[in-house]
Amino acid sequence: MKTVTLSTLRARKQAGEPFSCLTAYDASFARAASEAGIEVLLVGDSLGMVLQGHASTLPVTLDDICYHTRCVARGKGASLLMVDLPFMSNSSQERLLQDAGELMRAGAELVKVEGEAWMADGIRELTRRGVPVCAHLGLTPQTVYQLGGYKVQGRDAERAGQILEDARTLVDAGASVILLECVPASLGRAVSEALEVPVIGIGAGPDVDGQILVMHDVLGVTHGRTPRFVKNFLAEAEDVQSAFRRYHEDVKARRFPAEAHCF
Ligand code: KIV
Repeated sequence: MKTVTLSTLRARKQAGEPFSCLTAYDASFARAASEAGIEVLLVGDSLGMVLQGHASTLPVTLDDICYHTRCVARGKGASLLMVDLPFMSNSSQERLLQDAGELMRAGAELVKVEGEAWMADGIRELTRRGVPVCAHLGLTPQTVYQLGGYKVQGRDAERAGQILEDARTLVDAGASVILLECVPASLGRAVSEALEVPVIGIGAGPDVDGQILVMHDVLGVTHGRTPRFVKNFLAEAEDVQSAFRRYHEDVKARRFPAEAHCF
């Protein structure tokens, strides 16, 4: 695979070719995912749940994320490395810039931030300083307690319209990528069609530009209730590497997500 950059993702969108993304937390799995052709690796704050055993992503610190970013950066190969800003990094402009700076120094090539239209000023300041941003909308796990649980967002027309408007505002502010989590497939399609930038979906239907899953879910290492949008690719593969390849190929061929994985 040639080195993946933001231009690669934009070109994929223009060509109508979906791209695959996967979370990674260490060098070995990052290498396996990159060798399987996965275009984007995310050091997600989901590490708080899948690695640390917390009930949410809120306890994850900037140091935790930086540590895993340095590990993944050593194994990421040609994949683009996206990294999550942890809970409360967006509590002030100064903190946002400092935390993003730490992530970039640790190896991030794109930082992901949760937040709605009110994040526009922060995104403007980050992009002004050369930090590319992915804005995470829809179900934002850092606000799970305010949302009242991990629920599908944008089911009614008003909230769907709000998410679309927020996405437009954040792209106008400089966001290079939008990530939509747990929204109806119709909203995923509408956001992707309305924007020139790539839209990555997790539980956002088949008509977005890229798909992302948490690595543990792809490998069937899940506890409790499995979300509808998840698929265990290891169940149909011989080993981890083949499971990653199968996920990548199913995204490329638009076999994943199937209707059963959508809202
Ligand atoms: O932290 C994470 O893994 C994420 C994905 C669910 C997109 O944000």
